[in-house]
Amino acid sequence: MNPDENALTVDGISKSYGAVEALTSVSFGLNQNSILGLVGDNGAGKSTLLKILNGYLQPDSGKIYISGEEISFRNPQEAFEAGINMTYQYMALVDSTTVWENFFMGRELTTRYGPLKTINKNRMVEEVDNQLAKYGVDSLDPNDKVEDLTGGQKQILSISRSIASEPEVLMLDEPLTELSRGDRDLVVDFVRNLRKNSDTSIILVSHDLDIVRELVDEIMILNQGKITLSDRPANLSTDTIVDCMM
Ligand SMILES: Nc1ncnc2c1ncn2[C@@H]1O[C@H](COP(=O)(O)OP(=O)(O)O)[C@@H](O)[C@H]1O
Ligand SMILES: [Mg+2]
Repeated sequence: MNPDENALTVDGISKSYGAVEALTSVSFGLNQNSILGLVGDNGAGKSTLLKILNGYLQPDSGKIYISGEEISFRNPQEAFEAGINMTYQYMALVDSTTVWENFFMGRELTTRYGPLKTINKNRMVEEVDNQLAKYGVDSLDPNDKVEDLTGGQKQILSISRSIASEPEVLMLDEPLTELSRGDRDLVVDFVRNLRKNSDTSIILVSHDLDIVRELVDEIMILNQGKITLSDRPANLSTDTIVDCMM
């Protein structure tokens, strides 16, 4: 495994919570511009791995490389600055405001008129329009109210916001749970477009093996904190995946 060739390389990460060994020497590479599907039973260590990569937790041992450079971070802000971003299952969207306001929340674009700084709404709306068009989203308007969006549209807004900084790595923890069938299709299409039209590599955690199989370049199975199998979906039957999870 050569870290220089991967968007992300994880080398021998271990993590215990007291007596519970959540991750035992986990190593893998995430190829440039690809999607890695991370699957495993409840308690397998998926969220722990994501939290470490997100800078939310510190590993007990092991190394992380981004584009070949060894990196460590003490908090999510440092991980973000290093190029790893995460979309949470329930992103903190503000229902009473619009798509564009949520997209730019906390990083509003402003224009200076002499001593005054004003919010540049037109530029933000245009920017959101461009971002959504780039990823083939035609079901969202920048001026839509968030409270009127479906779960899938909210998920797309959350992910769009995460990807706007063009991170090296984007992590999605269960982005499809509690969505209707139609909304799931919407989000799956969106992620497929991201794979095609952005340089960001993605780690996708999902229980939906059918969707994982059709969406990802590689499936990695965690079982009680260890990687039991990692391969292309075409080489793995669903039975094999389930066997390696149990
Ligand atoms: N904050 C914590 N304190 C103690 N044990 C934890 C904590 N978080 C997770 N664990 C334990 O670590 C193991 C892995 O959990 P987790 O990473 O959440 O798995 P998954 O996301 O695959 O369900 C489980 O045994 C879980 O009970
Ligand atoms: Mg979890």
